[in-house]
Formats: sequence, C-alpha cells, structure tokens
Amino acid sequence: MSRIKLAAVAAAGIEAVVKRELQDLGYETQVDNGWVYFDCEIKDIPIVNINLRSSDRIMLVLGQFNAYTFEELFGKTYNLPWEKWITKKGKFTVKGRSIKSKLYSVPDCQSIVKKAVVEKLKDKYHVDWFEEEGAEFTIQLIIRKDEVTLAIDTTGSREGLFKRGYREKSVESPIKETMAAALIQLSFWRDDRLLMDPMCGSGTIPIEGALIGINKAPGLDRNFESEKWPAVLEEYWDEAREEAAKKIEPDKKLKIIASDIDPKAVKIARENAKKAGVEKYIDFKVMDVKDVQLPEEYGILITNPPYGERIGEDEEVVEILKTIGEIFGNDDTWSNYIITPERNFEDLYGKKSNRKRKLYNGNIRVDYYQYYGKKKR
Ligand SMILES: C[S@@+](CC[C@H](N)C(=O)[O-])C[C@H]1O[C@@H](n2cnc3c(N)ncnc32)[C@H](O)[C@@H]1O
Repeated sequence: MSRIKLAAVAAAGIEAVVKRELQDLGYETQVDNGWVYFDCEIKDIPIVNINLRSSDRIMLVLGQFNAYTFEELFGKTYNLPWEKWITKKGKFTVKGRSIKSKLYSVPDCQSIVKKAVVEKLKDKYHVDWFEEEGAEFTIQLIIRKDEVTLAIDTTGSREGLFKRGYREKSVESPIKETMAAALIQLSFWRDDRLLMDPMCGSGTIPIEGALIGINKAPGLDRNFESEKWPAVLEEYWDEAREEAAKKIEPDKKLKIIASDIDPKAVKIARENAKKAGVEKYIDFKVMDVKDVQLPEEYGILITNPPYGERIGEDEEVVEILKTIGEIFGNDDTWSNYIITPERNFEDLYGKKSNRKRKLYNGNIRVDYYQYYGKKKR
C-alpha cells in the first residue's frame, strides 16, 4: 500500500500531548508549527480520526514546496496527484493563510490553487465542468516564509475533532473537548486516583476523564468527512471502529466527582455524560466550591473556573480562586490543575505553581497552572 503523509493539528501549547498520543498509537512523528506530521497508510486515516483525543483535525498533506510567483504556485499545485483523492463529483473549497511570504494576497493564492486543481481534474477526468455535489474536500493552503503546504482536511471543516457527539447542550464558556482531554493528559491523573472538577459546567473535563479511564476512543460515536471519500475504503472505517470498540474496559472502577453550583449545569453535565456512555463512572453533585471537602488523599483537581468580563476585577471570581487555594492547596498530597485567564491567579491561590503552561481556550489567552502533590507510593 502506498505511503501518505498526515498531520494532526494541535492547538498552541498542546503539540507535545498530540505527539505523545500519536507515539502511543505507534507512529513516528515530527512537529512543525502546530502540526504533528507522520507517515502512514490510507487505512490510518480512520484510526487517527477515531482515536486521537487532543488534536483538532487530521490533514492529508499532499505537497510542500517553495513558491515565489503565482506561476510557480499554479504549476506546482497542478503537479500534485489531486485525482487520487478528489472525485469527479467532489465539492471542494480552498482555505488559505500566508505568513511572511512573497505571495501574501490570500484570496489571489486561493483562486490560483482552485484553478490549478480544476485544470488538473479536467485533464484527468476529461470533462469541462464539475457538478460539485458529492463528498467535500476542504483544501488548506498555508504559505509560511515562501514554503507552501497543501493539505486536505480528512476530519471535516465544520466538525473538528472536538465534536465528539455527546455535548448537545452546554453552559456559558465551555472548554473544548480536545482541550479538556489535553489538560487531563498533562496531569498526574491515573485511573486509580480521584479526579475532581468542582466547577464542571457541562461536564467536559469529567466526561473526557471517564472516556480516558475506560479507554473509549473519543471519535467512536461520530462521522468524519473522509468517510465519504472513495479512496478511504469503508472496510478501513469498520476495522478501525471494531478495534477501538474492543479496547473499551467497561468494568473499570473510576473515581470521578463532578459538581457545580448551578443545578442546570449539573443536569446538562449528567445528560452529556449519559450520551457519551460514561454516566455511571461519574458522581454528580450540585455544590458550591466553598463547601467541598476532600474525600481522600492524593486526589487530582482539574478545573476551569468562571472568569469575569474584566479579568481580575470580578469579586466573586476572586473569592472562588482564593477558595480553591484554601481547600485544595492546603493538602500536599493533592495535585491541582487550574486553567484560567486571571493573571494574578497565583497570588489569589496563595502559592507559585510548579509549572505554568500558556494555552488558548478558543481565542482567550489562558494559563494552565500546575501544582504537584506528593508522589503516591
Ligand atoms: C467556565 S465554566 C466551566 C465550563 C466547563 N469546563 C465546561 O466545559 O462546560 C465555570 C463554571 O463554574 C460554575 N461556578 C460559578 N461559581 C461557582 C461556585 N461558587 N461553586 C461551584 N461552581 C461555580 C458555573 O456555574 C460554571 O458552570
């Protein structure tokens, strides 16, 4: 089977998590500008889409080359094997970005790429006109320092991998499922330890924790754009789904507590957990974080507290962040992980973190404060 090159797109700051996930699946990787590249076969397209927890989407890299003029961009784009993937009836769009390059006009570059692909398909399929009513092919054009990357989105442009299919309802400012999975994988949590989110909102962190705990692949309950591509055979999808389903450990005993002050949020979290098939692994409660009592030692707190409109100026938020320090920061067996945009978080919590990781929750610049508890023997 011929080799292909894929790239798992990672949000800024979590490239290392995506890389580790891919290595655990057996791939050799290379990270460059937020894309984690790996060589593989076509049958791996379903495997990575279904199994990766922290990547946003999987791109099929068709070519990388230097281009300084429109003619070069056209010619080198034309030379790529588009017909191997895009069908006669395929619908395709070109998205573009240009960074520090001679070819800086993105709309012009996009239309040149589109034209080159159309010309190539016309020549290969011997037609003059395309109906564009079949499967979707979203071509991503990136020009960085005159190096062009052309890739097709295998996941689907509208439904990134964060859409697992379980979060039908949500609360204000939810965290992305892919980010929640990354936060958990960056923590000391292992399935024999207690995981707690006392501000769980729609339940994303506890649900992702339960999915990791029972080893359920996050993409098992959804579809992907490349399922409609003839080049990725149906049997590859069936096999990948069967393999992933076999790996689920439904009898796992997990200790996960999810609570929130808002009864509506807890109801939504419970419904989402049910949809994800993990309701029975999570203990849901309506509770003010001020009233939390640590039920055991060596627990793991992972939480995404509320934030005010003006960072640092909302009194309620300030009180909550202080409370986290007083309750969780006072037991040196607990490891505590908090994602927040509040710049003075460490002052409110009362201690410097062991590690601070700069991340983006959507467009909001946040930090992931990590406090390490004593090692469990
Ligand atoms: C940023 S949201 C969490 C979103 C969540 N990670 C998700 O993905 O849906 C913050 C949550 O904190 C809750 N909250 C606010 N004050 C609280 C308090 N005093 N005790 C517990 N929860 C509180 C809010 O109801 C809200 O659901």
